[in-house]
Amino acid sequence: MLREDGPAPSRSAERAERFHLDELTHVQAFLSELDGTCLDPVRPRSAFGPREQLASNAELFTTGSAPRDVWVHSGLGATVDATVVATDTPLELIDLCSMTANTILGINDPWVRLKQASYLVSSRPHYLTARMGNDLTYRVARRILDCFRDDGGPDDYVVNLRQCNGSDAVELALHAAWKAAAATPGRRKLATFRGSYHGESLTANWVSEHQPGRLLADAPDNVVFFPTPELDDAGELSASAASALETLERDGDSYFAVIVEPIQWRNSVHTVPVEFLRRLREVCTRKSVCLVFDEMQNAFGYTGSLGYARTSGVSPDISAISKALTSGHGSLAIIVARRGYGEIETPFGAKSNSGNMLALVAVDAVLDRLLGLEEAERKTLPAWLPSGLAAELRDGLLASAYPRAVALVDELLDELRRRFPTLVGPPRGVGLVRGLVMLDADGRPSARLAAAAAKVCLTHGVYVRQADTAVLLKPCLVLSRAETATALDALTKTFADVLRLRDAS
Ligand SMILES: Cc1ncc(COP(=O)(O)O)c(C=O)c1O
Repeated sequence: MLREDGPAPSRSAERAERFHLDELTHVQAFLSELDGTCLDPVRPRSAFGPREQLASNAELFTTGSAPRDVWVHSGLGATVDATVVATDTPLELIDLCSMTANTILGINDPWVRLKQASYLVSSRPHYLTARMGNDLTYRVARRILDCFRDDGGPDDYVVNLRQCNGSDAVELALHAAWKAAAATPGRRKLATFRGSYHGESLTANWVSEHQPGRLLADAPDNVVFFPTPELDDAGELSASAASALETLERDGDSYFAVIVEPIQWRNSVHTVPVEFLRRLREVCTRKSVCLVFDEMQNAFGYTGSLGYARTSGVSPDISAISKALTSGHGSLAIIVARRGYGEIETPFGAKSNSGNMLALVAVDAVLDRLLGLEEAERKTLPAWLPSGLAAELRDGLLASAYPRAVALVDELLDELRRRFPTLVGPPRGVGLVRGLVMLDADGRPSARLAAAAAKVCLTHGVYVRQADTAVLLKPCLVLSRAETATALDALTKTFADVLRLRDAS
């Protein structure tokens, strides 16, 4: 059972500690001016109900991009208030996937929204082209670099804040590594690993194992796929992992970069052994090969740090980061690179839509939430801010909430294994990036059963995703005990359905 430390707080008590912005008196005063006008944020926007809207999917959207099952009204933290469209029943949904890995702070984080609201009503620029500067750009750059400098040793880092999504950041990291190798034309190869996924743009897809379609051309012949780095049964690096390192040691002079995803989520949430990363770092240093971490899934809180260098003790030359940066409050991706990889050939490096200042406001606010405010700023917090939020801004959620959330997830996974010993394999992943492999009747990992779990979970009130043979759980940092208990119930119903399906076939 999920362990209780004293009486479990009720859902409503936990919710009282969290709050929506429109519960604050000062915000209510502003909103009341909008009441009944076309600016009223809660006024209905359309004459159609959810069912009619979904019926027009084929007419309006490309396949795969249209909403399907549930209609969302609001949400807070890991809880989403929704309706099941087919049956018109209300649904309180626990989002255990951070809306597909973006919202490290859950839904509607009050601090990020407050900072964005304050910026929006000011006369500050909402957008800036790359030639034009603003204090916020410099503030965010310095804050991010300060964190990486701490983790990366004496070397100096630079940042590019002008990408929109993860695929862009991967591509830019490779451009930077390629440019740095320009003086040594013998370095043309790129090493990547089976089990990887680096994005949907052409370059990012070419370096991923997961390449569902072929566009324009086959992958270039200078992309070399090495086996997934694994441990053997004795807990040592597998023969194939050791052999990959030997090959890179031998042929390193012909490689310009190695790209690795520290936790390969699409590969049933496989964690690359830290010992492998450590030895890969040594080879890359000896051979002057650029080591790129694709940190889309783990960065900004999900493994307890801003970057995997802190989590693993291994520093890459370039980190490509996106997803949790803004916690879903705007699209942004970045690379953080050692200075030697800071030069980028034009026209790369400044995507048109990357200048949205609200995304930078969001990163700044997410950093406040994860790390806590500096003392001088803490002293200037508005007196009307609820005390719970003020306390979180003092300590930072990585120090206070992360260990609690990981403990909750550990308990949840252990309990699910206890309840479904023949269906659920040992938990995988790190921190808040976790997977549960679904097993068939012969104890073999089953992508079919993982897909079935991901399909039925919403109707039982929990959102998880399929990650090959595993169910991916990637909850937000503010996941509460009561939400975890509700998720346990919902996952129990989900897995009971999957077990019935398995045993019926
Ligand atoms: C590890 C990894 N790299 C890159 C990407 C691409 O990110 P985006 O979808 O923002 O382009 C993803 C997306 O899921 C990812 O998981």
